[in-house]
Amino acid sequence: MSKRVLITEPIIPSVIDKLKKRYQVDVGERGTYNNEQKLIDDIPAYDALLPMLSNPITEKVIAAGANLDIIANHAVGYNNIDLEAAQKYDVAVANTPDVLTDSCAEFTIGLMLAVSRRLVEAQKYLLDGKFNNWEPLGFLGKELNGSTLGVIGMGRIGTGVARRAKALGMQITYHNRSKVDSELEKQLDAQYCSTLQELVAESDITTLHCPLTEETHHLINEEILSLMPEDAILINTSRGPVVDEEALAHALHNETIGGAGLDVFENEPDLHPKLKTAPNCIRTPHIASASHKTREAIGMLAADAIIGVLEGQPASEIPNLIQP
Ligand code: DGY
Repeated sequence: MSKRVLITEPIIPSVIDKLKKRYQVDVGERGTYNNEQKLIDDIPAYDALLPMLSNPITEKVIAAGANLDIIANHAVGYNNIDLEAAQKYDVAVANTPDVLTDSCAEFTIGLMLAVSRRLVEAQKYLLDGKFNNWEPLGFLGKELNGSTLGVIGMGRIGTGVARRAKALGMQITYHNRSKVDSELEKQLDAQYCSTLQELVAESDITTLHCPLTEETHHLINEEILSLMPEDAILINTSRGPVVDEEALAHALHNETIGGAGLDVFENEPDLHPKLKTAPNCIRTPHIASASHKTREAIGMLAADAIIGVLEGQPASEIPNLIQP
């Protein structure tokens, strides 16, 4: 009997077709598998799971997967998966690095431009019929050229953002667990800040590209926000809980910072009520990687990892296994 694969949401059809050529594939309905119990109930029937970042792949889910050989997350981030439990129950885990770097980096630049040049607010003004006269003082924003960008997390996406920002004339500073190699620093003309405090105090725009871990939970909190210049902009395309949303909403409402561009939220898909009404804040529904090309590439990488494991390939030959 052919092996069974569960894809928890509809994804790009070519990816589903690729897996269907080899296996019996079921595709969940949108949002159904955001529920832990639903996963626990259904997982015993499957050999492979292709979950979304919104699905809680907890120890209980993994323990219930008696036949489960691999979890191939449809994302580069894997904070939704209990890696220790996967190891304990001998289930391989894969993610999808690299293929979404350009899409996420471009989107981050888009948010930076949109917030600093007040695009959403300006469109609303126009559509509300308020554009009656060209205004020399209307919608004055800040140019990226000549501004300082503080990158927190200089991994693939952080570096992609820094490269683009440099091309736009920004000065690059960064904070990371360790310095990046000197060749890259030279290319980006980037300054390393050993403390987060120093980085945010110097940056016109601070952008987050670190994974969500115990150390990065609420990395951006009241104290850090209070150190930002009053026209500073915070961009988050990493994971929502890296930012204390209550503190951010407070800073935006009190205008102690200049604005924010947020693609991710602490309790997705819910939006903090005070962030909903915050001024100078652009909010998007976790779409930084949402280009057709990238979402197909993400799916294909996850599918390749599933095929590799189910066909018994050696772990070293299987793309993107975080742990075998
Ligand atoms: C990821 O892959 O982790 C992204 O957040 C998806 O856009």
